Amino acid sequence: MSHSKTCSVLFVCLGNICRSPAGEGLLQHSIDTRQLQGDIEIDSAGTIGYHTGKPADHRMRIAALNRGVELLSQSRKITVKDLHSFDLVIAMDRENLADIQRMTPEPTAELKLLSDFLGDNWPSDVPDPYYGGDEGFEYVLDMIEAACPSIIDSIST
Ligand code: 4NP
Repeated sequence: MSHSKTCSVLFVCLGNICRSPAGEGLLQHSIDTRQLQGDIEIDSAGTIGYHTGKPADHRMRIAALNRGVELLSQSRKITVKDLHSFDLVIAMDRENLADIQRMTPEPTAELKLLSDFLGDNWPSDVPDPYYGGDEGFEYVLDMIEAACPSIIDSIST
């Protein structure tokens, strides 16, 4: 019998309609397909509340669906409470991370960048795809997919 502990992960970007919903969906999918034991909770949030209540951007939903992943999140703004209730918070870029760090002096969550789970051949920031073309959405998904194995390793050990 396995005794995996409960772990919770929060992905954070600016608007919570492109990058962090993709992180939430792809990590959940990766965990589901590996049939990992244990109770892992995954969520996402944005540092701005501008899109609160909205589903993920349709371009990101289509790009994810093309990889077999349905994105079902609704945008919400990150709260100080998130930084004291989640075990791991993964920011998509350094600006997101700085915004999170300014929210509370002593978060209990471990704060990381998505690129902390990637090799040096990837950039430090997950580029914001919102104002660009379809290739930007594909690149975000490529980056997240590449990071998922290391994220899973870090939460399941
Ligand atoms: P996200 O992308 O941070 O990956 O969700 C963005 C979504 C919306 C805006 C900026 C980035 N916006 O300025 O409305």
